[in-house]
Amino acid sequence: MRVLIVGSGGREHAIAWKVAQNKNVEKIYCAPGNGGMVLENKCENIVLEDKQELADFAERNKIELTIVGPEGYLTEGIVDEFKKRGLRIFGPSKEASKLEGSKAYSKAFMKKYGVKTAAYEVFDNRDKALKYLEKSEYPIVIKADGLAAGKGVVICEEYNKARLTIDDFMVNDVFKGSGKKVVIEEFLEGPEASILSITDGNVILPFMSAKDHKQIFDGGKGPNTGGMGAVSPNPYCTPEVLDAFYKDIMNPTLNGIREEGFDYTGIIFFGIMITKKGPYLLEYNVRFGDPETQAVLPIMDNDLVDLINAAIDKRLDSFDLKWYSGFSCCVVGASKGYPSKYEIGFDIEGLKKPNRVFTAGVIYQNGKLKTNGGRVLCTQALGKTLDEAIDRAYHDLELVNFSGMYFRKDIGRYK
Ligand code: AMP
Ligand code: GLY
Repeated sequence: MRVLIVGSGGREHAIAWKVAQNKNVEKIYCAPGNGGMVLENKCENIVLEDKQELADFAERNKIELTIVGPEGYLTEGIVDEFKKRGLRIFGPSKEASKLEGSKAYSKAFMKKYGVKTAAYEVFDNRDKALKYLEKSEYPIVIKADGLAAGKGVVICEEYNKARLTIDDFMVNDVFKGSGKKVVIEEFLEGPEASILSITDGNVILPFMSAKDHKQIFDGGKGPNTGGMGAVSPNPYCTPEVLDAFYKDIMNPTLNGIREEGFDYTGIIFFGIMITKKGPYLLEYNVRFGDPETQAVLPIMDNDLVDLINAAIDKRLDSFDLKWYSGFSCCVVGASKGYPSKYEIGFDIEGLKKPNRVFTAGVIYQNGKLKTNGGRVLCTQALGKTLDEAIDRAYHDLELVNFSGMYFRKDIGRYK
């Protein structure tokens, strides 16, 4: 079997690593992949850009399964393009991808199907938004409607910040169209959880819960990043929280997917906040999370290709998902300066087998791995306890070295 994986991050590396464990898989093409994936079992990197090129490649090379990492390809309709050509692909249609691609759309979907979420209003007019903000209670949350690489959410403590944010989004157009429409929503408080799940459009099977750490500094301080590390299971996801999640969030979402008649075989990722009044849905993502995937896939006891095939063939109702009974932790090593300006091109040393390292911003040049991005790599480890998994992931990260390597010291230990 030949598999194509679209994307270049640590998430795609973890997917490739897991897919490679299937005995029937002989070759994995990664488009474009990253420098560390070149060294992964069965993997080859290929440079392909858009959905047409990718579909042409899949046709020519008899690819039997394509797995899509980044949301951009999904919202641009890569799944529709592949299906039109009779190619087997895992991911939601362009229409269903609006659940991530438009916050105004996803909030309306949540409201329509009774999914528990923060109260909100949508504006596409600056003056009306400001009038609303003059009378609002603070803090309040302003979100760009469209995709903004994880940077489209601003928590405003007072009116002045809200006004500046509205001007950035709607007038200065910092997200090139994505912020022309905004969602203004009630501020919620509590620990967050990422619950990835898989759906075939008929059932949703939730994965083990996870916890991301989005801010750059310890204690949850500083600007948001793509994610600095993750643990799974999430210690805040107690059985009571999970029951409320199934009842108030997951089941109404499944009902909505069915009622809308979405063509949805893929990952649905629930970003939730566990408030004093129970879990609320902050957002849907229609793809694997990064870095949650690097923590979660290593504790999945099933074969990922079997699971994905069951979803595509609409057999998830009889699929028995199994999980390692302990804990998993991944910690990201980033370039100094990330998420602002940083330098690249430094040699990466100390990658020791069998320690598990998933690479992201890495290139392979003249037989050497060099840094090539903000989030460079992560180490991942298992443990019988959460502390053991955390200690092992840090132990392995400390063996890795590149000039200016930065990492958070409190992954798994901060709420
Ligand atoms: P989102 O892209 O909607 O998940 O938002 C990104 C981050 O912003 C979340 O992970 C939360 O930390 C924060 N956030 C989003 N919505 C709210 C809210 N209503 N109240 C407080 N924080 C929020
Ligand atoms: N870790 C959050 C995300 O993948 O969006």
